Amino acid sequence: MISTDSVFSLNDTLQTIKDRHSVRSFMKREVSDSLITILLKAANEAPSAHNQQSWRFIVMRNEKKQELAHLVTSKSGDFPRPASALLRMAAKSISGAPVVIAIVNTGDLITHGTQLFKVNREMAHDFFRTMEIQSSAAAVQNVLLAATSLGLGAVWLGILFLMKDDVLQFLGEPKGEFMAVVPVGYAAQSGTGPQKQPVEMKVRYLG
Ligand SMILES: Cc1cc2nc3c(=O)[nH]c(=O)nc-3n(C[C@H](O)[C@H](O)[C@H](O)COP(=O)(O)O)c2cc1C
Repeated sequence: MISTDSVFSLNDTLQTIKDRHSVRSFMKREVSDSLITILLKAANEAPSAHNQQSWRFIVMRNEKKQELAHLVTSKSGDFPRPASALLRMAAKSISGAPVVIAIVNTGDLITHGTQLFKVNREMAHDFFRTMEIQSSAAAVQNVLLAATSLGLGAVWLGILFLMKDDVLQFLGEPKGEFMAVVPVGYAAQSGTGPQKQPVEMKVRYLG
């Protein structure tokens, strides 16, 4: 009988899931607009609560990307370690990547859902905000997987949440909610990323 591990190498999707790892430093090699369009289309295919698709993708290259890196570096000093160090690391990845994609929630699902559901306003807001975050997280993962399958590397930068108001203002999405900033490029080094703990440690079967 074929082992469950070897099925990964026989199935392109499973192999991409396994190959994906965070890439934080990049070659000085451009990524074509058409590859970026594929990543954005993959992101846009993600499932979303109420099919609201309440995400926005903001693509940055060149000066705009350097400005974001500069903003992150300059704000990093406002935070104690280790946050300041992680922010400076994030700025390096942003600066070194040829392209950066930011993912922002629009809040449309929160507005739409809160009107639709006749439950307590606070509960509806909490519910739809969570659903919006989960939907966009699926879109971010699609970017990472699509990048891997195209031979690109990427990393999910969540640390910029600490300075989310500045980032959203910079992105021109002041009413949005910060989800992630994802530098994308060709990996500077080959690697596999950290080992995952055995799945057996994470699973309980009921019944
Ligand atoms: C929600 C989220 C936020 C993350 N934020 C950061 C970050 O700010 N900086 C960073 O270098 N990596 C960040 N990562 C990447 C994780 O560090 C990485 O996924 C983890 O160490 C496992 O490594 P792997 O992605 O190579 O499997 C984030 C990942 C997730 C899912």
